[in-house]
Amino acid sequence: MDERRQLKIALVGCGRIAGAHLKGVRAHAPQITVTAAVDIDRDRAVAIADETGAEPFTSLDDALRHGDFSAVDIMLPHHAHEDAAVRAFTAGKHVVLEKPMATTIEACDRILTAARDAGTTFMIAEQAQYWPDAIEVKRMIDDGIIGDVITARAYFGGAAGPGITGKPWRFDKSIAGGGICIDGGSHWIRPLRMWFGEIDEVVAVTGRPLAEMEGESLVHALMRFRSGLVVTYDALHAGAVIGAGEQFRVTGSLGEIVIERGRTGRVLLFDREHPDGVEIPVTVDGSVVSLGDGRSAAYGLQLSDFAHAVLDGTALAADAEHSLGEVRTALAVYRSAETRSWQKVWE
Ligand SMILES: NC(=O)c1ccc[n+]([C@@H]2O[C@H](COP(=O)([O-])OP(=O)(O)OC[C@H]3O[C@@H](n4cnc5c(N)ncnc54)[C@H](O)[C@@H]3O)[C@@H](O)[C@H]2O)c1
Repeated sequence: MDERRQLKIALVGCGRIAGAHLKGVRAHAPQITVTAAVDIDRDRAVAIADETGAEPFTSLDDALRHGDFSAVDIMLPHHAHEDAAVRAFTAGKHVVLEKPMATTIEACDRILTAARDAGTTFMIAEQAQYWPDAIEVKRMIDDGIIGDVITARAYFGGAAGPGITGKPWRFDKSIAGGGICIDGGSHWIRPLRMWFGEIDEVVAVTGRPLAEMEGESLVHALMRFRSGLVVTYDALHAGAVIGAGEQFRVTGSLGEIVIERGRTGRVLLFDREHPDGVEIPVTVDGSVVSLGDGRSAAYGLQLSDFAHAVLDGTALAADAEHSLGEVRTALAVYRSAETRSWQKVWE
């Protein structure tokens, strides 16, 4: 590997998702070298530092002053996104920031202004943009394999336990900015936007079946796209066990595409030729992989895209501003549930 083509990066927040990013760097972004590990929890920073040979820091400011890196990968609780991103931009760094960009549009705008002032690369880590299954489904829709799209359904479901004890920060609304829709629900909104374009308005009901979670743990929503297409979007975080079924169903005039749930899930095409369904292979770098492995690879594929954008000036698959779409959709879902009315996403 040519040393000059290396992007030195600081991992900021060495918690749960940092492990997935690190694994992704190793598998799919060899042009990235982790040179700093930052966490207010020193043990976590040291653990990642030991694993990577990076220098550990317990504050971002310290790392920005003394660390050797030109980019930061920010993986902090949502309420800390704005401060960390603005500090990094002010220090002239390239920034990849975990979703959601921030919890209010005003905070997002301040981050985008700081990014423009810095003139560096800015990406939101919305890995669904790189899910090989979502990309393949987009190709199939664009190629007219299922004819004209009539409607679609998205279901983001997860069991509430076991493993959820105490109060994780994402159960605190003042930190997370909401519940599942602004958090993991974004990964179900992005593919819908990839396939069908921009969402115009939403109407939603939300609930809190998971009592210890302050934000919503249930969403039933209708999303009307600018094209006129209406899609149902469900998100649920409840129950001890969630059964098999579908994550996405896209119905067209000539057939249907289904993406199943879970690590054993498949992508299936149903049409006249295949009334019982045919499996569509999921591939990464030309090799067939399971749906789950394809989803995991997306963490690395997104960081590789970021590194190429910084090192080679290539365009990102989706720029940071595009990620406003998921934040705006979640906020519109919240307004709709409160007012019991259709809410515009972009106004
Ligand atoms: N894309 C995905 O699939 C996915 C999955 C999980 C989480 N996330 C996102 O990643 C981000 C982090 O989530 P997580 O689950 O890894 O959380 P986490 O709690 O596991 O990790 C966050 C880490 O940040 C540290 N921290 C908190 N405040 C800090 C500060 N001011 N300076 C330095 N370190 C600080 C904590 O000590 C902790 O180690 C969130 O934006 C979340 O939405 C994305």
